[in-house]
Amino acid sequence: MNFRWLSIAPILSVAFAAAAACSSPAIPNQDAGAADDDYLLGGDTTVFDVSPLAFSLPARNLTSDHRDTFALGDHFFNRNWVTAPASTIDTDGLGPTYNATSCSACHFKDGRGAPPDKPDEPFIALLVRLSIPGTDEHGGPVGEPSYGGQLNPFGVLGVLGEGKPVVTYEEVTGAFADGETYSLRKPTYRIDGLAFGPFATTTMFSPRVAPAMIGLGLIEAIPETSIASFADINDGNGDGISGKPNSVWSVREQKRVLGRFGWKANQPSLEQQGAGAFLGDIGITTDLFPSGECTPVQIACLAAPSGGAPELEAKKVAWITHYSAALAVPARRNATDETVRKGKALFTDAGCANCHRGGYLTGPHAIAELSGQRVYPYSDLLLHDMGDGLADGRPDFDADGREWRTTPLWGLGLYKTVSGHTFLLHDGRARNSSEAILWHGGEAEKSKQRYVAMPPLDRAALLAFLASL
Ligand code: HEC
Ligand code: HEC
Repeated sequence: MNFRWLSIAPILSVAFAAAAACSSPAIPNQDAGAADDDYLLGGDTTVFDVSPLAFSLPARNLTSDHRDTFALGDHFFNRNWVTAPASTIDTDGLGPTYNATSCSACHFKDGRGAPPDKPDEPFIALLVRLSIPGTDEHGGPVGEPSYGGQLNPFGVLGVLGEGKPVVTYEEVTGAFADGETYSLRKPTYRIDGLAFGPFATTTMFSPRVAPAMIGLGLIEAIPETSIASFADINDGNGDGISGKPNSVWSVREQKRVLGRFGWKANQPSLEQQGAGAFLGDIGITTDLFPSGECTPVQIACLAAPSGGAPELEAKKVAWITHYSAALAVPARRNATDETVRKGKALFTDAGCANCHRGGYLTGPHAIAELSGQRVYPYSDLLLHDMGDGLADGRPDFDADGREWRTTPLWGLGLYKTVSGHTFLLHDGRARNSSEAILWHGGEAEKSKQRYVAMPPLDRAALLAFLASL
């Protein structure tokens, strides 16, 4: 169980940040020269670690001042928050209701969260967003009246958790063109023990697993014009792929801006994503989100003591934002391997690269080291209709109930090492990359069919390419 590991996570990653601060390692020459142009997936920020801590390192070119701020952010990212009032006032304010007690509980070792192993295990890194039809004053989702915008399964002492989400899977079989069979697990969700009565009958649910934390500052630094250049909302070029930017409310700027983060590109910035997580996932208020999330029927929640107004100082939010932006992407492995090379060509041939794009030049960023980098996230950061199979039926700003943001694929090949599993897609239903591809539908249907039609050796080569990212 994850809980047991939580206590050691901070020690490990702080120690690592400190070690990394001593020197800025050079590029190993193993692959240099002969390497593909995308060998350094994150440009000069790229690191070369392939250990279980591969996602926890600061950008390789980060200045020593910025490494100090990174270490502060690292500390608070891994910190466990406790119930207010506590003697350690700088870490109190948990809840009253919450999903987890630290950022790293879900983004463990800055890696990827997993759905629960068994139906009776609690949901930690998989959270369930809730809303009812309509939009709020900024065009965003409207929370369920009694439970709010996100199910919080846990409560502090004296406050009820809102309910217990449960997932069960049904195996659905299919076959590749050559006759080899496969099986996908189709999830069904339900929520037991609802503390405040039944949900509104029109409630929509969106289960989402915690993504990896790498390369996020680079994504923030990609110029809006580069992303917009791939948008093709009405599929003007007739390739069956539209690609739509999300436009979401920025609390800081008080206007709608391009969405970049989250499974539906539903957050505009790392600051807002982090502050939103403090409130929604941990129950901690910040300058950006100063009021708590208890709904009018949650009497004990409303009466529970607060850890301050806001509970978290602005400077700490800034440290965590800096940390979230500066976590580095590891370099590709085996980029020059013949099979991997073949797989890369197949990736383009099958149309994967029409959505999973690389090759951006980053623009200005608050962390100057992230600017001017040639980066390969393998995502257009746009929304695509992915078909019925993946649809959550819950709109999020301009994303409709069938649309998801193309997931960046950098780091994919290290998930097993870092996070100990290979569960993929927005709710972790796919058990590996092949299953993730087989779930693709909608705008990606043609591309999926190309994969299904490949002979086994080609499929293996494509998967070898993905594993090199
Ligand atoms: C309960 C589990 C959980 C906790 C705790 C949590 N996160 Fe997340 N995180 C998620 C999920 C799920 C998403 C995707 C959200 C979405 O699509 O709406 C996410 C997304 C993110 C992203 C965007 C990543 C991307 O690729 O777009 C960042 C940055 C982030 N979280 C930072 C944080 C920080 C900072 C904290 C602590 C304050 C935190 N998270 C706590 C589950 C969690
Ligand atoms: C129309 C755009 C589009 C095309 C074409 C496409 N993808 Fe995707 N891909 C997506 C989106 C959107 C997601 C996220 C879906 C979700 O999580 O529900 C995704 C998710 C994935 C994932 C899971 C990533 C993760 O971390 O969860 C993998 C692996 C992947 N795609 C590989 C491929 C491959 C290989 C191809 C070509 C055979 C391909 N994709 C074609 C849009 C596309």
